Amino acid sequence: MSGGTRPDGRYEARYGQFPGARPRRLRVNPAMRRMVAETRLHPAELILPAFVREGLTEPAPLAAMPGVVQHTRDTLRRAAAEAVEAGVGGIMLFGVPEESKKDAVGTPGTDPDGILQVALRDVRAEVGDDLVVMSDLCLDEHTDHGHCGVLDAAGRVDNDATLERYAEMARAQADAGAHVVGPSGMMDGQVRVIREALDGAGHQDVSILAYTAKYASAFYGPFREAVGSSLQGDRKTYQQDPANARESLRELALDLAEGADMVMVKPALPYLDILARIAAEVDVPVAAYQISGEYAMVEAAAANGWIERDRAIMETLTSIRRAGAGLILTYWATEVARRLGREG
Ligand code: PBG
Repeated sequence: MSGGTRPDGRYEARYGQFPGARPRRLRVNPAMRRMVAETRLHPAELILPAFVREGLTEPAPLAAMPGVVQHTRDTLRRAAAEAVEAGVGGIMLFGVPEESKKDAVGTPGTDPDGILQVALRDVRAEVGDDLVVMSDLCLDEHTDHGHCGVLDAAGRVDNDATLERYAEMARAQADAGAHVVGPSGMMDGQVRVIREALDGAGHQDVSILAYTAKYASAFYGPFREAVGSSLQGDRKTYQQDPANARESLRELALDLAEGADMVMVKPALPYLDILARIAAEVDVPVAAYQISGEYAMVEAAAANGWIERDRAIMETLTSIRRAGAGLILTYWATEVARRLGREG
């Protein structure tokens, strides 16, 4: 027996037919599911974070991030070329200076021959404008104490003295060929100071990807190994408290007012609520950074046979995209871009 048409013209299931609505119809087979999917990933929106260490002759694997290495200058160039080949959108570079060159003010971060500047020139020479080349603008990779800024006499991170260093870093990175600088130190006023420094040096076209909502997270653990940082203390006086959400909107308003071209939420998966709120507010591109600990968790569980690796990777990335990120920084960028390419 079939249903009938009501006087108002709408279809009505026959009395007693249950359930009247069957959402499962749209899940019947892969073709149907593919057609009705609301969220798709595209290689161009993936950004590969990459580490390059000064003085290395062979790439150094990272114990806590299986599959990720500290690159030599050569292997970094190769990784950048592979990212282009796979259709990845951008690369975010982190430089690891020789231990002996680190000091209290992070001199390698502003030295034209500092490893990050060298790597920027290398990568630009390799990829030209075929890949968006970005650099981490922060002092922690370059200081001997491992903090994101310079310290005052009492050992606290000195906001305004740090801003002067960030301005110099911005100029050094742009001079070396960065298309985008990514201030990640959570100092107040950093975006404005960097914008002015770039403009003052003729780098009006270099954009700023601001780490807008960056939380003091336990999930950065493996990154410390990746950049050879022996942080003394923690970052809780400058990175946000995981308990706070509204504060992110305040940071957002400030970053936009100061001239951020793109904004970022970090980490990603534990902060999808923040990502969704920020994405609902803005008219600039929104990025999310799937950080080292997020990567390590999936790889470790998969290595133990506790989760399906590839499915878990795609699920995390799809969720980050669904929550509102237009750009995703992920250590799986090249691998996932290749997979997406194969799947069409
Ligand atoms: C700061 C910076 C950090 C990361 C990116 N930029 C570390 C921190 O703030 O403690 C973390 C990235 C990751 O964990 O994957 N230079």
